Amino acid sequence: MNDRATSPKPDAAAPGTRIELRRPDDWHVHLRDGEMLKAVAGYTARQFARAIVMPNLVPPVTTVAAARAYRERIMAAVPADNSFTPLMTCYLTDDIAPAELERGHAEGVFTAAKLYPAHATTNSVAGVTDIRKLARAFEAMQRIGMPLLVHGEVTDHAVDVFDREAAFIERVLSRLVGDFSGLKIVFEHVTTAEAVDFIAAAGPNVAATITPHHLEINRNAMFAGGIRPHMYCLPVAKRERHRLALRRAATSGDGKFFLGTDSAPHAARAKETACGCAGIFNAPFALESYAKVFDEEGALDRLEAFAALNGPRFYGLPVNAQRVRLVKAVAAEAPRVPDTLSAGGERLVPFHAGAALGWRYEGIVGA
Ligand code: NCD
Ligand code: ZN
Repeated sequence: MNDRATSPKPDAAAPGTRIELRRPDDWHVHLRDGEMLKAVAGYTARQFARAIVMPNLVPPVTTVAAARAYRERIMAAVPADNSFTPLMTCYLTDDIAPAELERGHAEGVFTAAKLYPAHATTNSVAGVTDIRKLARAFEAMQRIGMPLLVHGEVTDHAVDVFDREAAFIERVLSRLVGDFSGLKIVFEHVTTAEAVDFIAAAGPNVAATITPHHLEINRNAMFAGGIRPHMYCLPVAKRERHRLALRRAATSGDGKFFLGTDSAPHAARAKETACGCAGIFNAPFALESYAKVFDEEGALDRLEAFAALNGPRFYGLPVNAQRVRLVKAVAAEAPRVPDTLSAGGERLVPFHAGAALGWRYEGIVGA
């Protein structure tokens, strides 16, 4: 009886239950650029105080100047009354200059740097072909306390796509953690029991983000009655046993696991095609989605740690002073996620499209 969805635990909250928590941060998001940025930035800023913004634009964000300019475009795209702070990242390439990383970090532009193995995912062609080329960059980052964010999949086509994360741990990550034992590393959007075990056993300088979709779906969701392009992302969703391991990790209270949506919008026509893009757009209902999972696991009391405390502690940043409120909806009043949203003339299909979510985000308390 594998790959089956589980039913809610009996200790789920009663309809009408309100919860308040410190305003969360999103430690992994794709905000894109241009018209798409203008359309999607507000969804993230509405729920999250800060977000680690991925640098995989075309061309990628590889310099301090490019990150500064991108940060300004993000601020211009966020509603003026919002106190959202984008935290910028540098896209690592084979020839990245350690001095550029250090300067960006010192000037408060680069919070972290992102490692994409070349060809691993969307807009990763300029990524790293051989991690050994980055030894000097990693030494510098280790020295200055700048986190390394890792897309943890091997790109070897001989490795089954569902095994690429586990293979990355064996072939790359375990050595990286050993060679740079003081480097802060975030294993982004983990999708496997192997990754959960690796993180739990690693030192305090190694952590992981977990997306709402990997907590909600297993790989069957991509094939439910036909091919479902809006359930396709990278790393791809795995078997049910992996989803359950992720739910246990997220709701465990272990400070090494924290919220990172990996919200990755693509126009519907770029996903509903012969070779569709990888990425799930979950920003509009991200907190509701996480609340649903924590409620089903009887762990609402741990949502704040996962969403608002563990991330800042790992990054060495203050926790947010503002608080947000979520309410468990009475069934008939449960908010329904729209089938589509428009974005600069394009159509976007959000995660949970058409579904009624059991939780409603009521916004910042007192705002
Ligand atoms: C991301 C994107 O579209 O930029 N896609 C995804 O499936 N998650 C890239 C990434 O984070 O791998
Ligand atoms: Zn991502």
